[in-house]
Amino acid sequence: MKELLLKKIKNKEIIVGVVGLGYVGLPLAVEKAKAGFKTIGFDVQSQKVDMVNSGENYIGDVVDSDLKKLVEEGALSATSDFSFIKDVDFIAICVPTPLDKHQQPDISYVKSSVEQISKYLKKNTMVVLESTTYPGTTEELVKPILEQGSGLECGKDFYLGFSPERVDPGNLIYKTKNTPKVVGGIGKDATEVIASMYRAVLEGDVCEVSSPAIAEMEKILENTYRNINIGLVNELAILCNEMGISMWEVIDAAKTKPYGFQAFYPGPGLGGHCIPLDPYYLSWKAREYGFHTSMIESSMMINDKMPAYCVERASKILNRFKKAMNGAKVLVLGVAYKQDIDDYRESPALRVIEELKKEGADVSFFDPWVSSYRYQGQVYTGIGEINPEIIKGYDLIMVTTAHTNVDYEMVQQNAAAIFDTKNALKNLKERDNIEVL
Ligand SMILES: NC(=O)c1ccc[n+]([C@@H]2O[C@H](COP(=O)([O-])OP(=O)(O)OC[C@H]3O[C@@H](n4cnc5c(N)ncnc54)[C@H](O)[C@@H]3O)[C@@H](O)[C@H]2O)c1
Repeated sequence: MKELLLKKIKNKEIIVGVVGLGYVGLPLAVEKAKAGFKTIGFDVQSQKVDMVNSGENYIGDVVDSDLKKLVEEGALSATSDFSFIKDVDFIAICVPTPLDKHQQPDISYVKSSVEQISKYLKKNTMVVLESTTYPGTTEELVKPILEQGSGLECGKDFYLGFSPERVDPGNLIYKTKNTPKVVGGIGKDATEVIASMYRAVLEGDVCEVSSPAIAEMEKILENTYRNINIGLVNELAILCNEMGISMWEVIDAAKTKPYGFQAFYPGPGLGGHCIPLDPYYLSWKAREYGFHTSMIESSMMINDKMPAYCVERASKILNRFKKAMNGAKVLVLGVAYKQDIDDYRESPALRVIEELKKEGADVSFFDPWVSSYRYQGQVYTGIGEINPEIIKGYDLIMVTTAHTNVDYEMVQQNAAAIFDTKNALKNLKERDNIEVL
């Protein structure tokens, strides 16, 4: 199997299947197809399948013309029919791994997609899980489902591994193509063959590790590292405010140390599909070993209270103007979870808005990237534009995302008061009406 697959990789005869065509899967499918591998995308959402098949892009990090060209050339297609799995030699699984309402891993998307794959898995196929998950998922959950459903044996009839996805939406330098990748397969041969498949597609380094569990754990380490460091600066930002010290200036000063320090910044909380969720996958798994991940818990306690803390600070600002939050007109600037992207999953701004409403504020939002969002089953639509007249109509402007395509100077010149939770207005000289987190 090893020699056959290596030869097929070399000759670009591998047919690739990408399961889950979202923020991770679609860019991956496009890269594989661009590298000369015929690619089939699988998704349960027929709308996404139809869009791909008509060459229509819906992911910011994919170039519209790339997708269109690949579809027209027949290099990339999409389907909801899993029976086409029998035609592919390499399968990358990129389905969601969210938390359930009790903050526990919801692994149901991985399970159901693997069950579907197992029905049609043929001999001499590579299967790679890319979804972020707890250490042990590939060997303990995916392998038995694939073996039982297909009647094939892992390592003998097919190779299985884990390779975490590291896409950073909106990053202008590091894309799927040039971001280094880690690969851990079940057995040396699996790792070698799967790694060589990634090398045939990507420009970034491919780091081989000794097991899927190492690769699963290293991904959680990456995200937990960010989570905990953000928790640290958020806690210090609260303290610094009490002490009358600017945390932002402190970080800028610390950054001058050329080694041993990496800058993280405070904000209204954690957002996105990864940093706020992934550490909980580890906390959950750790309990199986009677272990409590206390660093993760402490950090989450701080990060989770940031939206409410920001609203408390906003109330104090209004108080200085002899205004109550109850009845105040507040404009929230930015609902995406980070700057210059349209993804608002887990965005702290949505919780800020809820907290403001709880306090009786009359809240609107403006986001140049997100015209409306869905939160707890309801759709909320923002104001279509901002201009001096509109800004003058609010008692407080609360900046919750540091988008770069907002005219902050105009906002500053016309706002009664601004609470900047992201230091997005840092370059403005006139700062009388600005308070920073
Ligand atoms: N978005 C990111 O920035 C990012 C970065 C690194 C890692 N990840 C990880 O990658 C994984 C995917 O994340 P995403 O952001 O691409 O999610 P997403 O929600 O954008 O896309 C997932 C896709 O999978 C599809 N899907 C769900 N169940 C399916 C099934 N049974 N069969 C086929 N398709 C199915 C969905 O319809 C959706 O289109 C997650 O584990 C996430 O933690 C995401």
